[in-house]
Amino acid sequence: MHKITYIDEAEIKAKTVLLRVDFNVSLNADYTISNSARIEQSLPTIKYLLKNKNRLVIISHLGRPKGTDSKYSLKVVADKLKEYLPKNNIFLAKDIESAKENLSEIVILENIRFFPKEKDYSTIFAKQLASLADVYVNDAFGVCHRSDTSVIGPPKFIPSYGGLLLKKELEMISQVTVEPKKPIVAIIGGAKVSTKIGLINKLIKIVDYLIIGGGLANTFVNAQGHEIGTSFCEYEAVQQARKLLSLAKKGRALIVLPVDAVVAETKDDKEHDVKKIDNISPKESIFDIGPETKAKIGCILAKAKTIIWNGPVGLFENPAFREGTDFIYYSITQNTDAISIVGGGDTLAAISKKEYLNKITHISTGGGAMLELIEKGTLPGIEALKR
Ligand code: 3PG
Repeated sequence: MHKITYIDEAEIKAKTVLLRVDFNVSLNADYTISNSARIEQSLPTIKYLLKNKNRLVIISHLGRPKGTDSKYSLKVVADKLKEYLPKNNIFLAKDIESAKENLSEIVILENIRFFPKEKDYSTIFAKQLASLADVYVNDAFGVCHRSDTSVIGPPKFIPSYGGLLLKKELEMISQVTVEPKKPIVAIIGGAKVSTKIGLINKLIKIVDYLIIGGGLANTFVNAQGHEIGTSFCEYEAVQQARKLLSLAKKGRALIVLPVDAVVAETKDDKEHDVKKIDNISPKESIFDIGPETKAKIGCILAKAKTIIWNGPVGLFENPAFREGTDFIYYSITQNTDAISIVGGGDTLAAISKKEYLNKITHISTGGGAMLELIEKGTLPGIEALKR
């Protein structure tokens, strides 16, 4: 069977290494870094390669720029990396030529999404990237679900390996996909059903309880036949949601939807109310799960042995509507018998400053990548490394 060779299983010494990382960190409104966890998580790989006298050409994307856009320059990332590695020489190269000319201990190539052929797969661009180094290392778990040139291209041309973060992510996530202990509970929040249909389809086949919250739940509540006032809803996905509900009835997963909700007329409203889910008035919007729903979820999470969580269940940015998400977080941390895997940018933002983070088995650096790995069992970036 083909498998990935990781850097700690190979002899990579005194080489030039093309290292793909996911330094797509969250940014503040002024484009400074708000959370550098993704940089920290790849430090073990960077330090391991440096210890073995390798030179690094680091590649990452940041944001979703349409062409070159100074707001998304990797300069902020290079400056942060200098703080973590004060003794190393770090050079930010604006293009491939400059990276070649300035090879030093660490060269960071400017945001790979400034290059037009990154998102539009190109063999020529993949070869150009590969020509920068002797070997390729992928430590960018968070972007392994994308078939971007820098993710799947270089392994076609130079020996390629997995980094230590990639190894950790795959090992940890396999705990919920390979013979997980039951009951298995998945909590899926966020806004859109349409992007999560494949995932929900898969989850209802493998989990015992599928808890649906956030904007996603509104579409399902509507599919159950309830009025949801002015709540966010993907009306074009209601039919699909109805299908998923009936599929779940035939399968073994119990879909758990809100039975009550915290509602208000607008998201900035100081006034809010708790309503049963079949009693939402036309002017009201659902912004969080209600107390009865929390009690139900609490019982399910308390007896779970495996927990997968992606997506807040309310509009957590507003303190009035973050109780449901906080409740789920604390319920997971209280269940120390369960293996728990948490991922997704919004989820991490909602929990990042909390106590007990060490009680979560694994906090993934990937959102979409984690979900797609659970759904499909593999990812393009992983397949590209297999030999
Ligand atoms: C992420 O933040 O999920 C990854 O860095 C992938 O980014 P993308 O969704 O813009 O491809």
